[in-house]
Amino acid sequence: LRPVGVIGTGKYVPERILDNAELEKMVDTNDEWIVSRTGIRERHIAAPEQATSDLAYEASIKALESAGIAAEEIDLIIVATITPDTSFPSTACILQEKLGAKKAAAFDLSAACSGFVYSLAAATGFIQNGMYNNALVIGADTLSRITDYTDRNTCVLFGDGAGAVVLGEVAEGRGFQSFDLGAEGAGGDLLKLPAGGSRLPSSNATLEAKQHFISMNGRDVFKFAVRVMGTATEEVLRKAEMTKDDIDLFIPHQANIRIIQSAMQRLDLSEDRVMINVDKYANTSAASIPLALVEAAEQGRIKEGDRVVMVGFGGGLTWGGAALIW
Ligand code: ACO
Repeated sequence: LRPVGVIGTGKYVPERILDNAELEKMVDTNDEWIVSRTGIRERHIAAPEQATSDLAYEASIKALESAGIAAEEIDLIIVATITPDTSFPSTACILQEKLGAKKAAAFDLSAACSGFVYSLAAATGFIQNGMYNNALVIGADTLSRITDYTDRNTCVLFGDGAGAVVLGEVAEGRGFQSFDLGAEGAGGDLLKLPAGGSRLPSSNATLEAKQHFISMNGRDVFKFAVRVMGTATEEVLRKAEMTKDDIDLFIPHQANIRIIQSAMQRLDLSEDRVMINVDKYANTSAASIPLALVEAAEQGRIKEGDRVVMVGFGGGLTWGGAALIW
């Protein structure tokens, strides 16, 4: 199998910042509660004219530039998202057209906050077996469009953004070492967007019942997250024949600082070995891990040969982990 790794990175967040002080004016909450329970201080919100493909486009342009690859050389585009521009065409097809990536096959992948890691695994498989050479993988979400800004239980948690990587063949000994993907469909009701699909099509009744917004059982999702952050990381390390001491940088899904801290405790990781930016961007779903990965690379926190472990969890319920030698 060909070794496959990251050969380009890019990220984008919308300009508009919604901070905790502004949320205090919208719902009955306060900065102290939000920071102590979640670690979040601010989040970026898409402009009215921006949809998920627009965020994905900005991140993709940077990733292609950093890889030194033209859009025409990309043969696969996967967009991980739960907030596509439209049910169909897929956001990946809309992006393919915007980029002029004429040669590329394109599809969306739906695994909520685990979507980016799921997409990395899928694209790596296509390249490893020789079907494609260069893949553009994007995690992009505009959660502000499915967030109820009158519900304090959820509206403080989410933000918008996109992160993109170009995957291609890398030198022997580098690249992805292992993946661990999983699902627990039994927990699907804990975190969902109830209406707008074939089960409950949009109607005046679904609008009135606010069923086009994220519905979440925060406590149960929290427990699931703490459990799988530990087990998925251990599984990824085992498959890659690595130990927790080998991790140079741990990149967890940025949902809640307390979930990240519990993983750090379980894995004996000090803060210098963990990427944390949940304070600036909140939970951006599929964009969360790539935003953290790309920011870590931009900050010089990942050097060639470093062992990077990414782990996410989310709606489905799903989880996804990956070990990578940079
Ligand atoms: N401001 C003030 N008070 C609030 C707020 C708020 N923004 N939100 C909730 N509260 C109140 C609640 O109403 C509750 O009050 P009550 O006891 O009178 O009913 C109280 O605070 C405590 O609520 P808890 O649910 O116990 O708070 P907890 O410490 O569990 O934190 C949180 C809640 C932050 C949602 C946490 O459970 C969490 O992070 N869960 C995981 C969420 C997550 O990661 N989701 C992933 C989504 S991924 C995806 O696929 C989109």
